[in-house]
Amino acid sequence: MERRIAGIIYILITFALVNEMSINVQARDNNKRRSKEKTGGFQKNICDITDRDSKVHCYCENTREPRNATKAECWVFNGGIPRDDLIWQSFASQPTLQTLSFNVRVEGALGYVPTKALYYLQRLRSINIKYGNIIDVTPFAFANLTNLKEAGLSQNQIETLQQYAFAHLPNITTINLEDNMIIDIDTEAFYDVPKLQKLVFTKNNISTIRNGTFQHTFNLLELDLNKNNIYHLNRRTFDGLANLRKLDLRRNRIHNLTEFTFAELWNLQELLLGKNDLKYISERAFDGLSQLKKLSLDDNKLAALPSGLFEGVRGLSSLDLRSNELHALTFDNIKPILDNLKPLNSNLLLEENNFACDCNLKWMHALRNETKSQNTKDSLDTVTCKMDPPIVSSAYNKMPEPDTVEYNHDILHAGLTIETLNDKNVTEKKTGDFKELVEANDVTAKKGVKRTVLKIRPETLPCPKTTVKSTEPPYVIDSVIPIQNEMKTFRFHERNSCGLLSFNLALRIACFVFFFT
Ligand SMILES: *[C@@H]1O[C@H](CO)[C@@H](O)[C@H](O)[C@H]1NC(C)=O
Ligand SMILES: *[C@@H]1O[C@H](CO)[C@@H](O)[C@H](O)[C@H]1NC(C)=O
Ligand SMILES: *[C@@H]1O[C@H](CO)[C@@H](O)[C@H](O)[C@H]1NC(C)=O
Ligand SMILES: *[C@@H]1O[C@H](CO)[C@@H](O)[C@H](O)[C@H]1NC(C)=O
Ligand SMILES: *[C@@H]1O[C@H](CO)[C@@H](O)[C@H](O)[C@H]1NC(C)=O
Ligand SMILES: *[C@@H]1O[C@H](CO)[C@@H](O)[C@H](O)[C@H]1NC(C)=O
Ligand SMILES: *[C@@H]1O[C@H](CO)[C@@H](O)[C@H](O)[C@H]1NC(C)=O
Ligand SMILES: *[C@@H]1O[C@H](CO)[C@@H](O)[C@H](O)[C@H]1NC(C)=O
Repeated sequence: MERRIAGIIYILITFALVNEMSINVQARDNNKRRSKEKTGGFQKNICDITDRDSKVHCYCENTREPRNATKAECWVFNGGIPRDDLIWQSFASQPTLQTLSFNVRVEGALGYVPTKALYYLQRLRSINIKYGNIIDVTPFAFANLTNLKEAGLSQNQIETLQQYAFAHLPNITTINLEDNMIIDIDTEAFYDVPKLQKLVFTKNNISTIRNGTFQHTFNLLELDLNKNNIYHLNRRTFDGLANLRKLDLRRNRIHNLTEFTFAELWNLQELLLGKNDLKYISERAFDGLSQLKKLSLDDNKLAALPSGLFEGVRGLSSLDLRSNELHALTFDNIKPILDNLKPLNSNLLLEENNFACDCNLKWMHALRNETKSQNTKDSLDTVTCKMDPPIVSSAYNKMPEPDTVEYNHDILHAGLTIETLNDKNVTEKKTGDFKELVEANDVTAKKGVKRTVLKIRPETLPCPKTTVKSTEPPYVIDSVIPIQNEMKTFRFHERNSCGLLSFNLALRIACFVFFFT
């Protein structure tokens, strides 16, 4: 019985192979015959493949007539199709196709962009390949198609965009590369794409962007780099993007923003930096963004903002700072954009920070009174602050985080270094006390030292001993400078200068320790 089935299978396979070979021979003959004809050389109407064994099947809209379909959806069932397989030539049977999609149904079945098929589709406007295993996008993969407007290669396994991957596509407006594994983009991967407006890299594995990667995409309006591994940006990263309106950098690993990072982007309206690891922002990081309206910095690790940070973005009317570790947001910080936060459609979101209850927060009362934005009112209504020195507990809270060990060390040592300056023996003793104090503070915090800012009468918000006049530059030079340096600066100052240093993390710890010694 089994042997008989095996025999039948054997016969069937042999038959299939012979059949396939004869098709190939026939194809080659046809090919020779028509080789002079540019659009020729096809054996099958791609919209009407009856051969059950075909590796590709397409379903076309409206018509199965040759030379008449405008839309085709193709399924790829079998792998191992050579790049120059005759099946690709068969696309010459439908030269009027405008929309073409490939759904790859078998794992690993399509590992390249079928340039050989696109070559015949001069009217094509949209191409979409999903679930393939394309790893590289090679030079001129889209066959220099003059009418192509959209290319989608989402959910493949692309790692590299080679030089000229997207080149000579005069009408292309949108390229979607979402959900791949892109690590490397050649600086000339996008070349001669003068109408490109939207470029999507969401969910890839980009960690560094080479200088000048976007130099040829000068009409880009929207660049989406959400969910990658980007950790560093510099002033040349976004070279060429003078028309960009929206830049999405959420969910990356950016930890500091240096000056002039976005200086090229002088038309940018929306900058999304939420869910990164931002700790330091240079006072001049946003310089040049004169059109910026919306900025999100939520879910980062910002403890303070340099006072002039928003000087360069005076058009800002939507600012999201939720879920950071801010212990102050001073009137100086907010002054350049305060008036923009009053209209109906403005937004200022501040929940989930570590604000200290002091007179630095007074402006929140005034803004709550004056703004017409319901979002801003709701947010201000729920902002809390801590009455006790909040920095100690926040520094303490950070200690167990493994990826911030270096930073925490600095903070910890910051306290100790200062104590050492007094008397070594006292220090040893005070270190123990320090920890106890921290714990005690944590306990009291849990008991409700957190207060709702707007429920504290503004007149009763305590001011630091010496307040900085708003016109003076802030005492500590630039919050970007590493903490060790700040500590060095500190050593030359008296104990009572603590009041000045209202928004410097390490110094507050130092001051706090001082007050208790
Ligand atoms: C081609 O399609 C058009 C409509 O898209 C139709 O009017 C025409 O009859 C079709 N021609 C053939 C030969 O099928
Ligand atoms: C596209 O154009 C470039 C430059 O003209 C040329 O080198 C390349 O061979 C063309 N590729 C295709 C597939 O037409
Ligand atoms: C872009 O597309 C339009 C219409 O689809 C066409 O008329 C024009 O020639 C194309 N541009 C180029 C440079 O080919
Ligand atoms: C992302 O890229 C890094 C190298 O930059 C590599 O080690 C890692 O395996 C990649 N992750 C994925 C999911 O491909
Ligand atoms: C990229 O530009 C930055 C800023 O000008 C520069 O410091 C860096 O060396 C450049 N990188 C390369 C690889 O050229
Ligand atoms: C809020 O507005 C009321 C009147 O509209 C005014 O009396 C009060 O002083 C204002 N409060 C603040 C903090 O500006
Ligand atoms: C500090 O301790 C050392 C021994 O550990 C001792 O010799 C020294 O006298 C002490 N100094 C003071 C100021 O107590
Ligand atoms: C930003 O981060 C990089 C990499 O960790 C570091 O080398 C650089 O000094 C940082 N820049 C500033 C201004 O802190």
